[in-house]
Amino acid sequence: MAPSVNSAKELSIFLAKTIFAFLEAAIFALIPKPLKNVAGEIVLITGAGSGLGRLLAIKFAHLGSVLVLWDINEEGNEETRRMAQEAGATRVHAYTCDCSRKEEVYRVADQVKKEVGDVSILINNAGIVTGRKFLDCPDELMEKSFDVNFKAHLWTYKAFLPAMIANDHGHLVCISSSAGLIGINQLADYCASKFAAFGFAESIFLETLAQKQNGIKTTIVCPFFIKTGMFEGCTSSCPFLLPILEPEYAVRKIVDAILQEKTYLYMPKFIYFMVFLKSFLPIKVGILLAEYLRVLHFMDSFTGQKKKD
Ligand SMILES: NC(=O)c1ccc[n+]([C@@H]2O[C@H](COP(=O)([O-])OP(=O)(O)OC[C@H]3O[C@@H](n4cnc5c(N)ncnc54)[C@H](O)[C@@H]3O)[C@@H](O)[C@H]2O)c1
Repeated sequence: MAPSVNSAKELSIFLAKTIFAFLEAAIFALIPKPLKNVAGEIVLITGAGSGLGRLLAIKFAHLGSVLVLWDINEEGNEETRRMAQEAGATRVHAYTCDCSRKEEVYRVADQVKKEVGDVSILINNAGIVTGRKFLDCPDELMEKSFDVNFKAHLWTYKAFLPAMIANDHGHLVCISSSAGLIGINQLADYCASKFAAFGFAESIFLETLAQKQNGIKTTIVCPFFIKTGMFEGCTSSCPFLLPILEPEYAVRKIVDAILQEKTYLYMPKFIYFMVFLKSFLPIKVGILLAEYLRVLHFMDSFTGQKKKD
């Protein structure tokens, strides 16, 4: 049975702590939080073979971390390994792993534990997009979206969270999307999988908090479009408020958020405002705003990732 809310003493403690938390947030909004040291941390990045995953690997190489790179694309992953080594990483381990397959995730995770050690920063970054209208999207592709964008997070947490709990030390990073906060037409399976990833990461954040596992941090990242090729062809008709992000900028913000142990990172900042508006605007006003910002047309010219010849 849940304990009931109660006494005046508890109310005053709650109010005092709330004021302190507001003040702390205000201070950190003005002066950035000190960055944590990740030298020697074992950082696992899924989807490291291109795009954000590759740039994250290079960033963590500069920071002196031990890298574990997973991707389904062996060639791309090997290229990232080479680039990370060039960036100064002395220990880089690349594994070919199809994150959509639970048994493969568990098998490669066991290999990592034996060959490298306990992963202390887990970045669930691998992702795919179908970009089709719901009724035009084959069932297998929708299932794949869920397997890669969401269910892989379950299996990697199952594999690596126990050691983090035992060591009371770890950081769980979920690369969701602004499409994990607001539904978008022609992205139904993608949005649903990214909402699921967000909800899962937030729930485990609260689960670790409730169990006083204070050494385990969570960062949930929700970016708008980034120029990695994943959303090739998509446009923003309101680049002032919703610019298509440069990958280097996005990765710099993600790494800063991890080093500052921020729980949420939405990019660009206008996404925070959109989520706030969505929570109280009458639906007709919300739709008018979506039409004004051409949100319903974001995917009109989507072509997606170009295949290499
Ligand atoms: N690019 C954007 O506009 C954008 C916006 C918001 C969120 N995101 C998210 O950021 C993350 C990175 O995307 P990106 O833009 O770098 O795209 P990307 O296509 O460049 O990178 C995705 C990587 O995931 C790998 N991958 C795909 N399926 C896999 C599987 N089954 N197992 C293992 N690896 C697999 C791919 O090989 C690729 O290297 C994704 O989760 C994406 O949904 C991207």
